[in-house]
Amino acid sequence: MSAAEDAPLFELDGLRARVAAEVVHPEILRGVDLTVRAGEVHALMGPNGSGKSTLAQTLLGNPEYDVTAGRIRYHGDDITSWATDVRAKAGIFLAFQYPQAIPGVSVLQFLRQALSARKGIDLSVLELRLSIMEWMDRLGMDRSFLDRHLNEGFSGGEKKRNEILQMAVLEPDLAVLDETDSGLDIDALKLVASGVRQVREKRPELGVLAITHYQRLLDHLEPDHVHVLVDGRIVASGGMEIAAQLERDGYEAFR
Ligand SMILES: Nc1ncnc2c1ncn2[C@@H]1O[C@H](COP(=O)(O)OP(=O)(O)OP(=O)(O)O)[C@@H](O)[C@H]1O
Ligand SMILES: [Mg+2]
Repeated sequence: MSAAEDAPLFELDGLRARVAAEVVHPEILRGVDLTVRAGEVHALMGPNGSGKSTLAQTLLGNPEYDVTAGRIRYHGDDITSWATDVRAKAGIFLAFQYPQAIPGVSVLQFLRQALSARKGIDLSVLELRLSIMEWMDRLGMDRSFLDRHLNEGFSGGEKKRNEILQMAVLEPDLAVLDETDSGLDIDALKLVASGVRQVREKRPELGVLAITHYQRLLDHLEPDHVHVLVDGRIVASGGMEIAAQLERDGYEAFR
């Protein structure tokens, strides 16, 4: 790879995207600029339908969306046209807003495959079990989850914890968390936030883009930057004062 040593972890430069379809859809992302450096936590807020999940999916290269203009750079490489699996292998991780069930695949099998794809490590089932169990304990997940089918019959909060478990095990360079706080009870929110903190302690260079509607998660994550996405554009960037203002006044001032 040709990445420059001092390049930011991740850069979006005038990113525009729309739904990939024969019928031309209007653009959902309409020129997004964003730079995340190694070790930084960024929060992305914005009203329903403003394009936050579309941005997350586009970052991971979901073929459901076409990039119509702009660039995505990661470790200095232009990854705009990279396939999803290549991006994942390179260390981009997405915790989905709506995690999907995979019938017939256990949490353990899924993690084992994902880890082998990400790192080329083929841990023995026993070794993997032990390291996953440690994280399950930290995230307050019952160990019986290892052998359950992925997300099948999981409660909302269990699905979200499982996403953080995947992040902890896969050790990405960039983690995009799409509303990982939604559906979590107050204790689970703290566990998930402390899970993210523990992953960051282990890997201080981890960059995080946390999509959320609420200040609550951000109080725990302490983001370096907070951005507001409205109609597919970042209309404001700043610190926690932005989250506080949103909590108080809503999006009116940003529209
Ligand atoms: N695959 C798709 N097909 C059709 N429309 C889509 C598709 N994906 C996104 N959209 C539309 O694009 C807009 C942005 O959706 P997106 O899911 O990115 O919003 P969001 O900011 O994540 O909202 P929320 O806060 O509700 O999660 C919405 O109007 C949505 O209906
Ligand atoms: Mg969304």
